[in-house]
Amino acid sequence: MAVDFAQTVKEQADIVKIVGEYVRLRKAGAQNYSGLCPFHKEKTPSFSVHAGRQFYHCFGCGQSGDVFSFVQKIENVPFPEAVRSVAQKCGIPLPKRDFASPEEAAEHRQRGKLLELHEAATAWFEEQLQSPEGATAREYLTGRGLTPEGIAKFRIGYAPDSFHALRERLQSMADVETLRATGLFSWKEQEDGSPGPIYARFRKRVMFPIANEAGRVIAFTARTLETGEKAGPKYLNSPETALYSKGQMLFNLDKARQAIRADGGAVLVEGQMDCISVFLAGIPNVIATSGTAFTEAQVRLLKRYATRVIVNFDPDTAGANAAEKSIALLTEEGFDVRVLTLEGGLDPDRYVRERGARAYAEVLRGAPAFQDYLVERARQLYPGRDPKSKTEALNYLLPHIRRIPSRIARDAFANDAAQALGIDSALVRAELKDAAARRRDSLAPHQQALTRSEQILLQAFSGPRSSEAYLVAEGAWHEHEREFAAMRDDVRTMVERLRGRADGVDPLTAVEDEEQRKILAELFLSIHDAEPEADDVEEAVVAIRRSALEQQQRRLRAEIDQAERAGKMDEALRLTREMQDMTRRVRELD
Ligand code: UTP
Ligand code: MN
Repeated sequence: MAVDFAQTVKEQADIVKIVGEYVRLRKAGAQNYSGLCPFHKEKTPSFSVHAGRQFYHCFGCGQSGDVFSFVQKIENVPFPEAVRSVAQKCGIPLPKRDFASPEEAAEHRQRGKLLELHEAATAWFEEQLQSPEGATAREYLTGRGLTPEGIAKFRIGYAPDSFHALRERLQSMADVETLRATGLFSWKEQEDGSPGPIYARFRKRVMFPIANEAGRVIAFTARTLETGEKAGPKYLNSPETALYSKGQMLFNLDKARQAIRADGGAVLVEGQMDCISVFLAGIPNVIATSGTAFTEAQVRLLKRYATRVIVNFDPDTAGANAAEKSIALLTEEGFDVRVLTLEGGLDPDRYVRERGARAYAEVLRGAPAFQDYLVERARQLYPGRDPKSKTEALNYLLPHIRRIPSRIARDAFANDAAQALGIDSALVRAELKDAAARRRDSLAPHQQALTRSEQILLQAFSGPRSSEAYLVAEGAWHEHEREFAAMRDDVRTMVERLRGRADGVDPLTAVEDEEQRKILAELFLSIHDAEPEADDVEEAVVAIRRSALEQQQRRLRAEIDQAERAGKMDEALRLTREMQDMTRRVRELD
């Protein structure tokens, strides 16, 4: 996608109109609109769109960006597709595909080809399931409670017991190197180190397609029909390819995402069969980790759609451990988490089949909050009522308590835990205080408010270079650069970025750091005028210089004290002179 085209689209698009297609916006100021944030669940609007500067920002979840980043996030598409989508919405004709480099063009062709091959393979596996050889697989699936409709819905197929049949089906579509890149084939390394002939990676297995969010098949997970020694792993997955990375996707998100967004909640299970059964039982907002440890990438992915999650893993040790890790990742991201452990040692798939869809829906509704789940687990792991067991149980819980972002929720959890374990709650709170102090130290800079002077300076540097405010600020910066070095780091970096930007470049584009961009976006939304008055800029510059000088004075005072105490009189004298100079400069500021 040519950069110029994106620029043209951006100039012609109106972010208020585009966002308005997804969010009900209300005018909230001369240039501002507000509404309920589509990226997190909220009841009062903290999502703003700025018509003048053409960006959006959410004060609740901190997401911000331009029209393309909005479409990227809400539609979950890469940048080029967002540009195309916005162009279409605005009736701007699309240029012929235009890539930045031949490599980019080749990569795009390759991805397209891999998608085509996966589509063809999926259709072929589906056919094979209906063939005479597919009888065993059909029986197997029927035995697991799947109907022909369910099989068709998930495009479940069968890979026959053949090394070459799939290759024969696909070889007219692509060269052998591309076939290797699909992950559907294996080969042996030859003696000279070159790769040998390809053969089917999946044989005699039930094939479950894995789709991306757009519903295109990008990989497979394949269940063996064999039992015993030569069966190999129960589930065999596609390897990582240009299309597929296991830890970056969630099984069934393509089918579940609408329901998840509408509901705000998702059910998270381990296996794809669990997921399929639960989905077909009429619970559409279910997704699966596919047996891997839940990853941060998956949490971020889910965060675009859900604020609540019910974790329902297998009721074995592996499942409990996986649940615990998932709870940690999810609570840290502020999800509202509940945990369901099914009784009778059943996984969700078997529970739905043996007890029915209604019973499953019922237990889902009654799933306990993760706090209760964890306390219960702590008591199971350390059942004793002696001090040692209690301490162990508490130590098990503390990291989970600390991880909770909300202070109120954290304290409530701590009190409940103390009560359940029969520990003095003051003791638990004391343990947590340490943690609280550590959290404060690590507070992100953007959570500290800008001073009014810092606001004005940033605002001045955000304006056009020819504006009076910009010229005043630039003059002061040039003349007193050394004093500004004592400024807050992130604010100084922003100023440098803003000063360094080429004419006409959007301030938010110039600032690269995401945190810093947020600060700037929040600033733009909180002020009314585009440009500050020159007088105000002058005042702001003085205030910033004053605080920088005063800071140096404080440091000098400490150094003088130290020199005097150490009996280094020459040193003390030199520093005192420096101090006098500093005092004079502060006075000059008045
Ligand atoms: P399970 O062993 O619980 O699988 O592993 P399951 O879904 O209950 O299997 P069925 O019902 O016997 O068919 C949970 C998940 O872990 C992954 C799969 O995604 C599976 O669904 N897994 C398991 C693998 O990737 N490879 C394996 O060999 C086993
Ligand atoms: Mn299972």
